[in-house]
Amino acid sequence: MTSLLTASFGCSSDVYHKISHDLKTTGYSINPLGIPNELAIALCEQLQNITDNQFNAAGIGRDDDFGKNDNIRNDEIYWISGNSQTGIQWLDWCNELKEHLNKHLLLGLFSFESHFAHYPPNAFYKRHVDAFQGEKNRILSIVLYLNCNWKKHDGGELVLYENKEDMNGVMVTPELGTLVVFLSEEFPHEVLPARTDRYSIAGWYRVNCSNENRVDPPN
Ligand code: OGA
Ligand code: MN
Repeated sequence: MTSLLTASFGCSSDVYHKISHDLKTTGYSINPLGIPNELAIALCEQLQNITDNQFNAAGIGRDDDFGKNDNIRNDEIYWISGNSQTGIQWLDWCNELKEHLNKHLLLGLFSFESHFAHYPPNAFYKRHVDAFQGEKNRILSIVLYLNCNWKKHDGGELVLYENKEDMNGVMVTPELGTLVVFLSEEFPHEVLPARTDRYSIAGWYRVNCSNENRVDPPN
């Protein structure tokens, strides 16, 4: 794997600037080679050490609404914490992006959560928006792909629709290192079925919706 990754992923601050420029102009940003090379490799290594029974079937909705629905999505997930060196590096990288975007776009991003996702062959995630219904706290979505040498015929593209009416969408190949960032409420998107195992990280930045009755986000 390492030999395929000799190309430099560039300096993070260049990527942060590009993301902030793209978000301002179009609301989304697609970046092949979006994160540092070493971090991409470390995340792939961490993924290989997660056992099948540590992955959990993904659900939809949240708290009382939480449910599993195989007709909508059938990936499995593993939440990323700061308990490992690689987890810390990933969270730090995302935190620096948050600070950059708060400074340049005044988004007021507050907390961040992310998980690895495994889509077994033929798994999918139908068209959806990431912001929870009735709650406006998921502001920005981020997706990183961890599939080395993905072939066109493997399928599994992310289709990002430019607005609620758009039926065509922008296709993104889930190749290792490709990083996609978009405004959570604005862009419906879906994951097409793949011929082979497909790995990604999905994450969300949230604003602080706490009030006197409830701490939200909880962490
Ligand atoms: C999600 C999601 C996209 C992907 O988890 O909400 O849209 O390409 N993931 O993995
Ligand atoms: Mn999504």
